Amino acid sequence: MQFPKDFLWGGAIAANQIEGAYNSDGKGLSVQDVTPRGWRERPTETPTSDNMKLEAIDFYHRYKEDIRLFAEMGFKVFRLSIAWSRIFPNGDEQTPNEAGLAFYDDLFDECHKYGIEPLVTLSHYETPLHLSKEYDGWRNRELIGFFEHYARTVFLRYKGKVKYWLTFNEINSIAHTPLLSGGIYTPKDELTEQDLYQAIHHELVASARVVKACHDILPDAQIGCMILGMPVYPLTPQPEDVMKALQTERENYYFSDIQVRGYYPSYSKRLLKEKGIELVITPEDIGDLMHTVDFVSFSYYMSTCESSNPEHKGGEGNIIGGVPNPYLEASEWGWQIDPVGLRFYLNTLYDRYQKPVFIVENGLGAVDELITLPDGTKTVLDDYRIAYLNDHLVQVGEAIKDGVPIMGYTAWGCIDLVSFTTAELKKRYGFIYVDRHDDGSGTFKRFKKKSFSWYKEVIASNGTSLK
Ligand code: BG6
Repeated sequence: MQFPKDFLWGGAIAANQIEGAYNSDGKGLSVQDVTPRGWRERPTETPTSDNMKLEAIDFYHRYKEDIRLFAEMGFKVFRLSIAWSRIFPNGDEQTPNEAGLAFYDDLFDECHKYGIEPLVTLSHYETPLHLSKEYDGWRNRELIGFFEHYARTVFLRYKGKVKYWLTFNEINSIAHTPLLSGGIYTPKDELTEQDLYQAIHHELVASARVVKACHDILPDAQIGCMILGMPVYPLTPQPEDVMKALQTERENYYFSDIQVRGYYPSYSKRLLKEKGIELVITPEDIGDLMHTVDFVSFSYYMSTCESSNPEHKGGEGNIIGGVPNPYLEASEWGWQIDPVGLRFYLNTLYDRYQKPVFIVENGLGAVDELITLPDGTKTVLDDYRIAYLNDHLVQVGEAIKDGVPIMGYTAWGCIDLVSFTTAELKKRYGFIYVDRHDDGSGTFKRFKKKSFSWYKEVIASNGTSLK
């Protein structure tokens, strides 16, 4: 089917997973520079050479070549994050680092050279390490001011260069990875739900204040929230399972409900009470929260199931738990693949909020093999990735027919990058293969995979080439 004529096709990345140059040109350390094993491990004292993110794929020095390749695929939009610690190395300074600001100036100019609109995430799991160690991240109310100062600085600087913004990446992931998502240095098992939900409150207030700042400084721009999207199905039609699924969904909707509606939802009272939480909310916070987002964006990789039967509890169904769905296949990393779930989720979000939606992450992480064709060209025959993306995009088309206003689609990891959960390079998402490996070997050379020309055709045909 033909997608809407202004549909924003593109790809997505995050600074810490792609840039490298972790201490160049005045950049400070971020929580990613001390987590060589990803989201489950405790941080190292200092950056260690086994941390693939320190060099990543060296986008910092090679972005011109990479953006040219994105342009060749026909990208209309490129989602990236600004590394907060390039702009404010410690996070709590008054004066920004000019070299960090200049890097993104050049990067945005390069995008515009090809007519590509940047879509910028302000905070993608990259809290400056100093804010994490000295303030315990978002547990501390002072971070609201630091984040707002950072956001205002980049809004003023990139006026006219960036018109699509996101506040926090996957804001609802904080309970699963308090350090990487919330910058909270205290070990996860020492944190109470009170601590976590207070930190969440601070992030929600910060997000709303930044939405207001964006509207004030950049009246023509749009700013959205970003949710880890994972529909929750009841494992059976048993009413208790259905109720359980609703409760789990609400633990995620909690975040978008506040960011979209501007106040705590009615169900939050009981949810917080049963967890024994009493939030500190000032009258000023209540006013701030009323600054709501313009659109709702989300990542989508999988759905999950819930059951009221405790015997089903043991299953690590998917990235953030849940019970495995017996009807679905999984990726090599155990993430269950559910294209129809994407249509379901798009419809559910729009029914709930009546705001435009943007799919800002979706893709398949897989082990790729670089081969040499008879004519000497090196490539990856990634038909499995093409099938995954095709099937999801067909469902996006269905959701458009259902009447959901979808702003665009940015495929995750449009060029191979270091994975977030496990911090490895072996898990690849890209249309472009990067010759770099977990043992540190590789030339950093880029090669087009089969999916490169497939996606190019999808964009050129505005969706009609999908099957
Ligand atoms: C999302 C994150 O959770 O999933 C990305 O926003 C991440 O940063 C992506 O890379 C895929 O996860 P992973 O672990 O396969 O890289």
